[in-house]
Amino acid sequence: MKTEILHNPGGAKLEKAARIIREGGLVAFPTETVYGLGANALLADAAKKVYAVKGRPSDNPLIIHLCDPRDAEKYCFTSELYYSLAASFMPGPLTLILPKREIVPDQTTGGLDTVAVRVPAHPMARELIRRAGVPVAAPSANLSGRPSCTTFAHVLEDMNGRIDMILDGGDCEIGLESTILSIAGGKITLLRPGGITKEMLEAAGFSLSVDKAVTQKLSGSERPMAPGMKYRHYAPKADLILLDGTHGAVEAFMRAQLGKPDVALIAYPEYRSLAGRDNVVLLGSTDDPSGQGHVLFDLLRGFDSRPEIKQIYAKLPDSRDLGLAIYNRMLKAAGYHIQKV
Ligand code: TXA
Ligand code: MG
Repeated sequence: MKTEILHNPGGAKLEKAARIIREGGLVAFPTETVYGLGANALLADAAKKVYAVKGRPSDNPLIIHLCDPRDAEKYCFTSELYYSLAASFMPGPLTLILPKREIVPDQTTGGLDTVAVRVPAHPMARELIRRAGVPVAAPSANLSGRPSCTTFAHVLEDMNGRIDMILDGGDCEIGLESTILSIAGGKITLLRPGGITKEMLEAAGFSLSVDKAVTQKLSGSERPMAPGMKYRHYAPKADLILLDGTHGAVEAFMRAQLGKPDVALIAYPEYRSLAGRDNVVLLGSTDDPSGQGHVLFDLLRGFDSRPEIKQIYAKLPDSRDLGLAIYNRMLKAAGYHIQKV
């Protein structure tokens, strides 16, 4: 298939993309979190295409993207809690799970009787959804198992020749997928950490618990509340190990790895003894989790074009604030492999 590419389209230039989605085709588009692979959420066949193109298991449900939180009335059963969270955090990097109405096909929700709803803030995403006039189902635009796409180059790498159109909107601002909350029964559970942090929710007066799957490996029989959290994710082909220790101990451990051609180190600019050395990549300052989130997936993807790298070390991230989202993604990328130093 020939994939049409549009660079920085706006306004009426998005009309063709909107039509493709409305009529059952697939268009990758930027959001403030990661690029999405958009399809008409009301067409079972379009959802099926999304699973086929990504190589994604069909029991892993899609998020539907809307322009306005009130549009959710047409597709799900809302609640007071839905509207109070929406008033504080939508549009933005927040996804809420609601009971679905019949109009949303089972293929979109992976057979669940709930549907995930998000109202993105990115102007191109909003204009595309508005013009499409339908809810836009959009998983992250990566091939299943790879890190989500946070740049146009990533989308081209994974989706060129597989879908109808790619919209180039430059780099995604946040670089980590949205925060997902279950709000069933008026009780908030964090299913996936993202740009709206636990601390931000608490500061706005919401209390919540964190699903075990966010920070721990589940045993074979346990099921996470967000089905996607059970799949292997984000993992570079090389083996990633997270080092659990003080910054000093981690820096010393990493220093001892320098000069090994098959070892790469994910370090911070504060680790001065590693500055400028071969096979050292920088995640961003230790006190800047949003800068780290912005580059994390690009950095993990970068290792896959370097087959000589067999082993990667990184520090086990701090899990406060936005750090929890980075901690969760890196734990998964490492297959929960932690080494004390
Ligand atoms: O930031 C984002 O959320 C991006 C952009 C494109 O909006 N989308 C995204 O979609 O990350 P995806 O498909 O890669 O991840 C969706 C996650 C999966 O873990 C899935 O299991 C969960 O949302 N999910 C979707 N519907 C659900 C439901 N009804 N109940 C529980 N979890 C659900
Ligand atoms: Mg994904």
